[in-house]
Amino acid sequence: MTTLIASTDEIPDNGSYLFTVEEADGNLEEVILVSLSDGVSAWKNFCQHETDQRLDRGNGAAMRNGEIICPKHGSMFDAESGYCDNGKAAGSTLAEVDISVRHGQIYLTDEDLEFRHEGGIDDDDGPSSTSHLQF
Ligand code: FES
Repeated sequence: MTTLIASTDEIPDNGSYLFTVEEADGNLEEVILVSLSDGVSAWKNFCQHETDQRLDRGNGAAMRNGEIICPKHGSMFDAESGYCDNGKAAGSTLAEVDISVRHGQIYLTDEDLEFRHEGGIDDDDGPSSTSHLQF
């Protein structure tokens, strides 16, 4: 199923757009969208060094020069490839999520994931929840 997540305008230039998906086994997982110089990428919202460490803790991931910075030990992941060549997470790559972008709209196309809601797992009933089209 292809689900509309957000429009490209909703991704902060310096930060990330957080949303929650459901995996095939029913587990909820957070995903971040980040802006690239010529597109958008999507990653599971956890560091590869300690996988319980979120990159975006609800206020957008820290970004600098096209890299996503882990808030715990400061490893930097390339926002385009997800690869990290520094610090504690050196040699690892963020877990990628399949999306597509058409006419400024970002769609979840990952067959193993279903869109649940905007924001983090705990934000289910939050004021920022909005309904999203599914088709
Ligand atoms: S938890 Fe991310 S670098 Fe250590």
